[in-house]
Amino acid sequence: MLKIDIKYGVLIVFLVCFTAMGYCEELRSMKQTNLKTTETNPSPRTRLNFNKDWKFFLGDAANANAIVFDDTKWRRLNLPHDWSIEGKFDEKNPAKPEGGGLPTGIGWYRKEFIAPVNFKDRMITIEFDGVYKNSEVWLNGHLLGKRPFGYISFSYELNQYLRPGKNIISVKVDNSAQPDSRWYTGSGIYRNVWLKSTAKLAIEQWGVKIVATASKDQNIASVKVNTTIINKSSGTQPFILVNSIYDSHGKLILHGRPFIINSNHPSVNSESTLNFKNPDLWSIESPTQYKLVSKVFQNNKLIDQQETLFGIRYFNFDAKTGFSLNGKSLKIKGVCLHHDLGALGAAVNSRAMERQLEILKEMGCNAIRTAHNPPAPEFLDLCDKMGFLVMDESFDVWKKKKVSHDYHVNFPEWHRRDLADMVKRDFNHPSIILWSIGNEIREQFDSTGIALTKELVKIVKDIDQSRPVLAALTETNAAKNFIYQAGALDIYGLNYNHKLYKDFPLNYPNEKFIGTETTSALATRGYYDTADSIRRWPKDGKTKFKEGNASWAASSYDNVSAYWGSTHEETLKEAKKYDHVSGIFVWTGFDYLGEPLPYAWPARSSYFGIIDLAGFPKDSYYLYQSEWTNKPVLHLLPHWNWPVNGLFTGRQEKVIDVWAYYNNADEVELYLNGKSLGKRSKQGDDLHVLWQVNYEPGTLKAISRKNGKEVLVKEVKTAGKPAKIQLVADRKNIKANGTDLSFVTVKITDEADNIVPYADNLVQFKIEGEGFIAGVDNGFQASLEPFKANHRKAYHGLALAIIQAKEKAGIIKLTATADGLKESEIIIKVEK
Ligand code: GAL
Repeated sequence: MLKIDIKYGVLIVFLVCFTAMGYCEELRSMKQTNLKTTETNPSPRTRLNFNKDWKFFLGDAANANAIVFDDTKWRRLNLPHDWSIEGKFDEKNPAKPEGGGLPTGIGWYRKEFIAPVNFKDRMITIEFDGVYKNSEVWLNGHLLGKRPFGYISFSYELNQYLRPGKNIISVKVDNSAQPDSRWYTGSGIYRNVWLKSTAKLAIEQWGVKIVATASKDQNIASVKVNTTIINKSSGTQPFILVNSIYDSHGKLILHGRPFIINSNHPSVNSESTLNFKNPDLWSIESPTQYKLVSKVFQNNKLIDQQETLFGIRYFNFDAKTGFSLNGKSLKIKGVCLHHDLGALGAAVNSRAMERQLEILKEMGCNAIRTAHNPPAPEFLDLCDKMGFLVMDESFDVWKKKKVSHDYHVNFPEWHRRDLADMVKRDFNHPSIILWSIGNEIREQFDSTGIALTKELVKIVKDIDQSRPVLAALTETNAAKNFIYQAGALDIYGLNYNHKLYKDFPLNYPNEKFIGTETTSALATRGYYDTADSIRRWPKDGKTKFKEGNASWAASSYDNVSAYWGSTHEETLKEAKKYDHVSGIFVWTGFDYLGEPLPYAWPARSSYFGIIDLAGFPKDSYYLYQSEWTNKPVLHLLPHWNWPVNGLFTGRQEKVIDVWAYYNNADEVELYLNGKSLGKRSKQGDDLHVLWQVNYEPGTLKAISRKNGKEVLVKEVKTAGKPAKIQLVADRKNIKANGTDLSFVTVKITDEADNIVPYADNLVQFKIEGEGFIAGVDNGFQASLEPFKANHRKAYHGLALAIIQAKEKAGIIKLTATADGLKESEIIIKVEK
């Protein structure tokens, strides 16, 4: 590749730049006049959504890669698509309960399309954001390539086999070798697909790299732009590259100096730094983004234009004081997330991801670890826009497997490409502050870990020196941890072991530290077992899946964790105490499909979430909210309908432990049916208060006070019999774009509108108008009801219907009915 670097002059191989200042100035003003006229032109590159009207067949199909093939009986669908989530739960499915107990297998997709008229003068590329997995892609019967890794984005140039008129793309997806994962993966073309058309001389895919930072006094922005341009034309005419920066309101900040570059080379790289005064920095509270517009001119014509969002910020990890963003100390309050979207499976939907992030933001969460793989690009866009920090992770295994058909099969051949592509693709996201080369990798336990760690870190650093690289480690003995011994990591990332936080600086002087994974507490929303003691479940490796309750639930009193983990409270107490702890990533923000610890089948999704699979917060959500935000919080648990199935939760029959999470107050007073049960304040490092209450039905009421003045009041009432359904939509106006969603919470209430905490009525949905039901759920981890259905049982009083817009403006009417209950309906507007 030809390298041009006018600032540093180090990599200059060839540069045709007219350096005489006078000429450049003249050129600048001349080109700016041109820029003005061309700015109004449509961009000469197009990137069209290619999701519509695919044909799908579940199973293998001989010759389905051929042009002539009868796919008339195949199902027509729009991407993104995950066929696993449409299937039936079955313990015998080869992915096993660990993989969610849903079908996997082989699937085929075909799409007919018309080649762009001018394709011979253009570069036409198909871009896949992610296909799970082992995809092979053909154009008109010619193999374009294969990509085993299911979480990576990849693309193919189509020109060689493109024909005027009709063309056929066929994609084989092979997810049949199972088990291949420790969690649910989904199967199919589950992320977006794009068709890109550019001039033959154009900016390369991921060809714009921006490192944007600011001076310590934050007065001057420094935006280093590195652009790679490829030339597949036969011409050698010089071209001009102009970079311009716009602010978040679209106002021009500056045009960079134009580069005049000779194009007699297939790939040219140029670098320059643009500075400007008083930038608005990107932060979690104010995630300002700027836009770099890169324009390529040839023969006085705009031939390519690309827009890249970026944020200006600087950050630091310090061995003593932890993390800081833009010079200010900031504890990383993070959660780990797998990629599935509950009832929607792995099929990417921006609104579903945005909702997850909104719920987490409300909780005070400021960071996400993309466990344990590169996420969908839209997820990172949302993190940039909404102000989340991101630890972008590449792998769960290297050469050594965790399950028989996982990525270790592909690692030897593909890891360089997959890791490099992750870093290249995600380079410009201001949200990303950490690259992770792996989670709990087996090679930490033997000497092969040393060379591999060095190799992987080098792959990242060859592309990006602006961010630290870590791995999520579990071997706590440094001498025996070969990934650590490689000496190549910038930060020590430790999973679990919260008791080691305290002495970390003694044991690892001058090492920077973060809790890459913590907690693994277990809970089911709305379910409470005795709060007497903390249960480690399983208590050791031998008892895994051997102990269970008939409820298939785990107590929501924050008193259960896996033996390698800790409760939310145990973890938080340690993490907040020490400045050297940069932060934590709690396992996990949301429940996810698969890994149904501590139960065996029919449990099929995880119990680790702070929020359940349907998106309903469990009680620990409010613990975090009380600790991680400044907004006033007062949360009471449990519900007040005892006994449940003849059982109470307390130390003695009828004695119930009542907990409150609160903040911004000195004390909380609890009342039962108007009688005070006393005031409590958090003592020492307590994170909740508790009363043991002799149960009697009625109203439990808590009042938090500061300096004697009421801050918040919270009531929990004994609910009567289920009487009504109530529907509450998170959004009543959605877009007629075929993908927008409204999440409708279904509440089973008594006559007085109290949610009935034991209600499990079967709710039937009827939908009319411009939408359809994309999924249903209730958050119960051991439910084997289908997610794609028009009915769902409530669980602990709640269920969820996810409504998806069609493409026509109009109205959606959703009606919910259940035997013996007053029905309910809700209207959602679908707008163009
Ligand atoms: C960790 C692992 C996660 C998940 C978690 C469950 O050790 O990194 O992927 O399996 O345990 O507690």
